[in-house]
Amino acid sequence: MRAKARAHTNIALIKYWGKRDEQLFLPTNSSLSMTLDHFYTDTTVTFDNDLKQDYFNLNNEQASEEETEKISRFLDKVRDLANDQRFARVDSINHVPTAAGFASSASGFAALAAAATKAIGLDLTKRELSQVARLGSGSASRSIYGGFVEWQKGEREDGSDCYALPVLEQEDWDLNVLSVEVTTQSKKVLSREGMKRTVDTSIFYDGWLKAAREDMVTLKQAITKRDFTLFGETLEANALKMHATTLGANPPFMYWQSATMRVMEAVQSLREQGVEAYYTIDAGPNVKVVCQPQDKEKTINALNEIDVVNQIYTCQIGPGIRYLDV
Ligand code: PMV
Repeated sequence: MRAKARAHTNIALIKYWGKRDEQLFLPTNSSLSMTLDHFYTDTTVTFDNDLKQDYFNLNNEQASEEETEKISRFLDKVRDLANDQRFARVDSINHVPTAAGFASSASGFAALAAAATKAIGLDLTKRELSQVARLGSGSASRSIYGGFVEWQKGEREDGSDCYALPVLEQEDWDLNVLSVEVTTQSKKVLSREGMKRTVDTSIFYDGWLKAAREDMVTLKQAITKRDFTLFGETLEANALKMHATTLGANPPFMYWQSATMRVMEAVQSLREQGVEAYYTIDAGPNVKVVCQPQDKEKTINALNEIDVVNQIYTCQIGPGIRYLDV
């Protein structure tokens, strides 16, 4: 009744931005991500007859009540699937600099889904596992696979055709992602709330849905052809369109800070000098810069010159879920 799993974070190149069903975490648009090697979560789950409630230890400390409740709500779904109501002890080590404001929910819920379903005796395919992980956090559905991953939105209301699929394996295209930290403050508008407000009120939302569909086709072509220019231009433009929807919401909001824009400008000027680098930004002020290995040093050097940059983490494309010995 015990299992341990490791899952890596991922960065969306075509963003998931909006739910059509809040309970089932069904998105309004399909998304596409790259799994990253540098940041991951290791989670051990033990179901135990003697427990009277769930316990959650995060980084060797007892987690807050709020965090434990979130884990418990997710475990309820696993218990219902397995028809087994035992409580569990969850031990997670987050190798994600949470203080740096990088999302750990993708690797966190992917590792928890894998360890909990195995520990309770469910034998799931990766596709099924991505559906379970989705119920913790939408982006977690993609962290089941390594490399480039598509999360298909599906059409059905029960979510049975809403899951992630591998697009290209990790070793098939060598790229770098530089995670550029400009602040460690937590964001003011959480992604869940930001998505909802945008879906409900943004005058740009229909435009986003159309663009996300088109960008998906273009990005997949770029991946198939290993066309880095098309790849970079498409992912950067997609991030900008996602962020534009927040400006059209009511009340409007934005995730960027002036430091975010400094990094964006630096990337643009690198391109003017012939260094091919492109950026993407999630629901927060930090920036991820994508480049090819031959441009890595020049890109890091240029970013290090910006005084508002705290730290740069160099990532490569990472692997999918893995079970570890307990
Ligand atoms: O699944 P969440 O709640 O971590 O939302 C992720 C939202 C974005 O990071 C902005 C986009 C994405 O596809 O990961």
